Amino acid sequence: MRKLAVLGTLATMGFAVGVVVTSRPSNAQESGRPAPDSIAAPMLSASDTASLKGPRQPIFFRHDIHAGQFKIDCQYCHYSVSTATEPGIPTVQTCMGCHLVVAGSDSGGRAEIRKLRTFYNERDSTDAPRLEWVRVHTLARHAHFPHMLHVAAIGPTACGTCHGDVARMPQVWKVNDVNNMGFCINCHVERNVPRDCSTCHY
Ligand code: HEC
Ligand code: HEC
Ligand code: HEC
Ligand code: HEC
Ligand code: HEC
Repeated sequence: MRKLAVLGTLATMGFAVGVVVTSRPSNAQESGRPAPDSIAAPMLSASDTASLKGPRQPIFFRHDIHAGQFKIDCQYCHYSVSTATEPGIPTVQTCMGCHLVVAGSDSGGRAEIRKLRTFYNERDSTDAPRLEWVRVHTLARHAHFPHMLHVAAIGPTACGTCHGDVARMPQVWKVNDVNNMGFCINCHVERNVPRDCSTCHY
């Protein structure tokens, strides 16, 4: 019931709820696989984050709530993943597009939304801290990884191949050791795509 109320609010805000939240992403249909079912995310508070896998973030931002329970498409936030090397990280303005109305749960979510609102209100101030997410996956500068080529070649469900089931993660962690080049080479060999050194190092 609560979920429906939230969706109703988003709808009145002019969000494309039919696309973003209730319908299956067209990607999943094209690939012939069903979209993941919406599964209620567990109740957790920010004080639980230390015991979760993955680095603790400045705001307890939950993929299991956004991408899992509410089925918001990955590309709604990682907007350039199929067009650029860098997938893109949403700005606080994008977050507030929803969170001007969506307040979060009583079990700690509201306190995290307050943090978000502070970052948003102070975004133009030069001395206020900026919202800096902690990177989970980072390659050394000598290695080059283009997201768009992989998403095009592997398909829209590509994310899970490397990042695991992010839509079930309360806090993102590194499922595959992307800093071990064997991880890259094995798949390049398997799929018979370029693997001379200059493919990835330049
Ligand atoms: C498309 C809409 C949408 C966008 C964009 C969005 N959120 Fe949310 N967010 C939600 C919904 C829906 C909930 C669930 C609210 C609830 O349970 O009452 C939620 C819940 C939350 C919560 C509370 C979690 C809890 O424990 O209750 C936090 C914190 C949060 N979002 C942060 C963010 C941040 C940070 C961003 C930007 C990176 C963001 N959100 C972008 C829709 C959105
Ligand atoms: C509502 C916005 C939103 C949605 C939807 C979303 N993400 Fe994210 N994602 C973020 C934000 C903000 C971060 C940075 C904070 C963090 O790591 O949790 C992030 C981080 C990540 C990271 C870790 C990045 C790093 O530092 O290495 C991965 C991987 C990721 N997202 C994959 C996904 C996938 C796959 C989906 C769809 C199943 C998805 N995201 C849906 C906002 C979103
Ligand atoms: C073939 C493996 C692979 C696939 C497929 C893949 N990624 Fe990544 N992703 C990586 C690697 C490697 C990095 C680190 C890149 C770097 O440091 O240059 C990364 C980094 C990221 C980041 C962090 C970027 C940042 O600026 O903080 C996000 C977010 C992300 N990926 C989301 C996604 C999403 C969403 C998808 C699916 C649409 C996806 N990735 C598909 C391997 C992959
Ligand atoms: C799950 C399989 C898979 C994994 C894992 C993978 N790749 Fe790829 N990669 C591909 C495929 C398939 C292509 C071919 C894309 C195309 O050009 O159509 C590709 C293409 C590339 C290209 C462009 C090649 C060219 O034609 O110039 C680069 C660069 C690259 N990958 C780097 C990496 C790096 C770095 C990693 C590890 C962090 C990695 N890949 C992991 C499947 C993978
Ligand atoms: C498909 C992509 C890819 C190809 C092809 C590739 N590498 Fe790498 N290489 C990587 C990645 C990713 C790393 C890890 C970067 C990091 O530390 O984050 C790496 C790391 C390295 C390192 C640093 C030491 C180490 O093992 O971490 C060396 C040296 C290296 N590569 C040499 C080579 C040589 C020589 C070739 C050709 C025979 C080659 N690479 C081909 C992706 C690739």
